[in-house]
Formats: sequence, structure tokens, C-alpha cells
Amino acid sequence: MRIRTKGNFMDTPICDFVRGYAQSGVSRLHMPGHKGQPILGCESLDITEVAGADELYAPTGIIAQSEANAAGLFGAVGTFYSTEGSSQCIRAMLALAVQGVERPLILAARNVHKAFLSAAALLDFDLEWLWPEERNTLCACPVSPALLKKALGSMQRRPCGVYVTSPDYLGNTLDLAGLAAVCSSYGVPLLVDNAHGAYLHFLPSPAHPLDLGAAACCDSAHKTLPVLTGGAYLHIGKDAPAHFAREARRAMELFGSTSPSYLTLQSLDRANAYLADGYQEKLTRCAERVDALRGALRRAGWTVRETETLKLTLDAAASGYTGQAVAELLRRGGVECEYADPDFTVLMFTPENDEADFTRVAEALRYNEAPVGATPCGEPFVKPKRAMSVRQAVFAPHELVPVEQAAGRICGAPVVSCPPAVPVICSGEVFDETAVRLCRRYGFETAEVVCEL
Ligand SMILES: Cc1ncc(COP(=O)(O)O)c(C=O)c1O
Repeated sequence: MRIRTKGNFMDTPICDFVRGYAQSGVSRLHMPGHKGQPILGCESLDITEVAGADELYAPTGIIAQSEANAAGLFGAVGTFYSTEGSSQCIRAMLALAVQGVERPLILAARNVHKAFLSAAALLDFDLEWLWPEERNTLCACPVSPALLKKALGSMQRRPCGVYVTSPDYLGNTLDLAGLAAVCSSYGVPLLVDNAHGAYLHFLPSPAHPLDLGAAACCDSAHKTLPVLTGGAYLHIGKDAPAHFAREARRAMELFGSTSPSYLTLQSLDRANAYLADGYQEKLTRCAERVDALRGALRRAGWTVRETETLKLTLDAAASGYTGQAVAELLRRGGVECEYADPDFTVLMFTPENDEADFTRVAEALRYNEAPVGATPCGEPFVKPKRAMSVRQAVFAPHELVPVEQAAGRICGAPVVSCPPAVPVICSGEVFDETAVRLCRRYGFETAEVVCEL
């Protein structure tokens, strides 16, 4: 298929090959075991790396062409497909940052996704956290360029990467251009978890990490673009260290399955044509609708946060509810939200939402009757002491204890719920009373701690 876009053609080589293969009637004496027979219905298009289908980790054909299309669309020096989400891309991005460094150190804003911690365990890098001046929710970590500059200026050892999450689960974004400028002045690559922001490049003022100077970032295409679950990109920017683009494929392979999903690869391939064919206009219209809905909810008495374009985040606590209670109101109105915690309720929109979706939200939250109950989190976030490295803690023997008994013990597995998969306390850190209170607040009853000798 070749889709014409403003005088250019965007081809979809993976989709074309697989469709041709499905129609060929060839006897499938290869994996997968369904042999293309319709059990769910999608099996005929679910193939493996047969002749002509290219290889995800050594592409020379249709996958290479499709990735080049994606790189062109995003303005990347290199774009690498993942069928295993941003989680794989995060590990690969960190592997690139630590490559060749004797005692690697990563400076990271604290609201990391748990994939960052698994990377720390597997790659065994040291880490230092960037703590914001104020923090009243697990999901956010408002790190400013000034704060980063101060941190980098006071470090004894130069980190081999600065790692931030923007947008975060609540839709907060960081000043990535400012952070990139600071990183550049210290000669440290800026690595961005942009899992929630694949669409940002297509806004009237492009705000994707690569537009703002990041060395590398991951995008979960499946979160904000019409891509099947697991579809993601690792993008390398033009100012990245030279080895990033050269070694990215190997880094992705290190953490990837040898059986990538061709359904997801087709979906990523088809997304190129979708993005090249009027997506910007659709995105602008969607942004206007979300904005109008924000206005309507504010007029109805809800506190709606200022966020990135495609998220609508209700400050439920400030509106007199818990986030979960708002989620229940929405559910009764036929709407399922992305995320709810004691303080917030998060809705995610894309141009694929129709008018009925917007109407239902407006109807379900027509009146804010502000019942009793919610108390904003507002607890001081502790800065837990580190007793051992993430790797030591992850690979040490663990025991499960009631969270009340965790005080004084070393965290083994990060205490994390999914979503938002941001750890309350990380492997190797010591539980104190505040950490225990926070675990309770976020609904944890037990914690995995390192066994004492
Ligand atoms: C901020 C953030 N980073 C990374 C990830 C991991 O993305 P994926 O599910 O595509 O592996 C998530 C998933 O929710 C996320 O919220």
C-alpha cells in the first residue's frame, strides 16, 4: 500500500508482505502453531521471520524500510521498532548510555517506571536520584533545568546519562529544551522516557523529546497512536553520542524476544501511513475537543489540571473526591479511565475517540456534588537511604512481610502497582515510617524485603 501525503508517498512494506503471504495459501510448516487458521481471527496475519519477512534484529528488507519511514516522520537519526513496549526500549537506551563506562552512574528523576529499575539490576549501574524541591505525588517529579544544573555541578563523578520521564502518568511535562541545554553543557546525554508522548512531534509546535534536544527516547506508540499493544519506538536524536545509533539494534536485541510479533510490526508499519496522512489535522481537532471538555468540567466545579494535550487529569482530591471515587462515577456512566489513585483520575484521549466518548464523560461528571472524604496526599515524600545497589537487592533472597513490619528493612522488589508502575520505594532502599505510610496509602499490604542474614 502507498498512501499519498502532501505529494509524497508513504509505503507500508511490512503490511504488504504479510498480506501477500496470507493470501498465497502457502503451507505453513513453520511457527506459530496456529498455522494461520482463524481461532481468534487474526492468525493469518500472525507470521514469523520467514523468507522475505526480514529479521527485526538484523533487518535489511521490509523492516529496515519501515523503520526508515518512521525515522523520517519523527526526525530521528535512527528509529528502532519494539514489539515489547517501551520497557524494552528503556533497557536498551540505558545499555547504550552505560556502554564502555567503567563504573557507570545514571542521574535520574525519581518518578521512573519500573523498567528503569530492572535495567539498573541487569546492567548494574549506580544511580543517583534527582529530587524536586516539592513533590506531593508519586507520579510527578518536577525537575527544572536549574535543579539539574545544581545537581550536575555538585556531583563528584560525571554521570553517563541524565534520565527523565516526560510526560508523566498525570500528564505533566518537563522543560526538556532547558534540561537538554544543561546536559549538553556537561557533555551528558539526555535520555527521556517519552512512553506517553509519541504524538508530541505532530503538534503545531512539535514538543517531542527529539525536537527539544534529547539524545534518545522511547515512545510507546501503543499508548497514544493507533498501534497494537507492545508497539514502541526507540529513537536516537541527532546530538546523541555516535555509538548510540550504531549500537542501538544490538542493545534492543539484548532485551528482546527472538519471536517479535508481526501483528505489532504491521501495526507500527501502518502507523507510518496513518501519521503521514492528515494526522496533524486530526490531532488538532482532538486537542480542541479535549480542551472544550476541560472547560466544561471546570464550569461544573471540577479541578482539572493543566497537562499535555491528550490527557485530561482531574485533581479529584481538590474536587472533594478520591480518584477512585471519580473513576467509579465514570464507570457508572460507561467510561473506563486510564488511572485513578487517592488524588487523581486520568483520562487519555486520541483522535480515535468519538463524540460519544466526550459526551459520556461530560454527562457522568455533570455535577460535582463534592462529598466528604478525600484528603490530598500532601505527605512529605521521604528520601529513603540506600543500603545496597539495585542489583544486589534484586538478586538477594527476599521474604514477604506485612508492610507495617517493613520499617528498617531493605526493599527487595520495588513496591509498585501498575499503573502507574512508579515505585514507592526502590530495591536497595531502606523502609522508614513514612515509606510504610505511603505504601499503605497506595494500597500495599505486603512488601518484599531482603532476607537478613
Ligand atoms: C512512564 C512510563 N514509562 C514506561 C512505560 C512502559 O511502557 P510499555 O508498557 O510500552 O512497556 C510505561 C507504561 O505504562 C509508562 O507509564
